[in-house]
Amino acid sequence: MFALGLQGSPRKKGNSDLLLDMFMDALRQRGAHSQTIHVARRHIEPCKELTVCERKGFCPIEDEMDEIYGLLRQADIIVAAAPIFFYNVPAQLKALIDRCQTLWARKYALKLKDPGHGVRRGFLLGVGATRGKQLFDGMHLTAKYFFDAAAAAYAGSLTFHGVEGRGDILKQSGLEEQVAQAADQLLEGLSGRRKVLFACRENACRSQMAAAFARLHAGQRLDAASAGSQPARSVNPMMIEAMQELGIDMAYLGTQSLETAVAGNMPDEIITVGCGEQCPVLPGVERQDWELPDPAGQSMEIMRRVRDQIEEHVKAYIAALQHLSK
Ligand SMILES: Cc1cc2nc3c(=O)[nH]c(=O)nc-3n(C[C@H](O)[C@H](O)[C@H](O)COP(=O)(O)O)c2cc1C
Repeated sequence: MFALGLQGSPRKKGNSDLLLDMFMDALRQRGAHSQTIHVARRHIEPCKELTVCERKGFCPIEDEMDEIYGLLRQADIIVAAAPIFFYNVPAQLKALIDRCQTLWARKYALKLKDPGHGVRRGFLLGVGATRGKQLFDGMHLTAKYFFDAAAAAYAGSLTFHGVEGRGDILKQSGLEEQVAQAADQLLEGLSGRRKVLFACRENACRSQMAAAFARLHAGQRLDAASAGSQPARSVNPMMIEAMQELGIDMAYLGTQSLETAVAGNMPDEIITVGCGEQCPVLPGVERQDWELPDPAGQSMEIMRRVRDQIEEHVKAYIAALQHLSK
């Protein structure tokens, strides 16, 4: 279970920074592994309304957004934290949100489905100096539509009035309890799921498709990830095309090594879909080996055939798990 934190304030060790740290700690204590992006320290250009994304599904601006699209796609949980700047989020975070028009376009204009859409949840943390009733209205609306573009269900928020000087957030009474309660609610039904890791050699094709089908078909019942014994630099473009034919969006997904995947996040089961003996035996971890041909470098026809075989395997696997839990 991967939680991505987006720290939206330009102030170092400011209120939203401290609040997000506390929140991400609470998620880690409940079994998530996490990464926090300090948005103001990243190179993110504002949207230039080139509308390329609406026609072609990608943004031609060269900055760090491709990495962030990938992290949003990988995340089960997205936590956005920000101070109120003139009744909304600071411009740096707003630039990132506006650039998610690319994800909006892939979802609504190209009608592609993010495999994580049935699992992913978004949560908002907000702080502001004044006490007006409507202080967080703009931020809430912005967060709602951002999470929707990122295929995340808006799962709630914690917002604090009267927080101004650096560190004021820590003076809020009952803060730790509120954070703990919100973290419990946010992870309800997600923590404690069976963790399955699909592995192949390059994590470019077969294991990516298997994890995507598992996320799509099992939804919140499985915690599915993928990795490779010798990860390639990027996923296979023909695999992206073959999945796109079924309306499944595999763009922006990255590859990872088996070592990275299991570090601090040991799966309950590893399913090898093409690394055979190169995939390590992990002590205490159940294992299955699915024999599947390597479609890399072959024709589109073979890619499609392997894709469909993987989907059948994954569906049968999920059906067997349901049968066991009855
Ligand atoms: C440019 C700017 C605009 C702000 N606008 C508002 C505002 O509209 N309403 C409000 O209550 N506080 C406003 N604030 C105050 C911040 O929301 C507040 O100090 C917050 O605690 C800062 O959080 P941080 O430490 O995470 O940056 C503004 C602060 C700045 C610097």
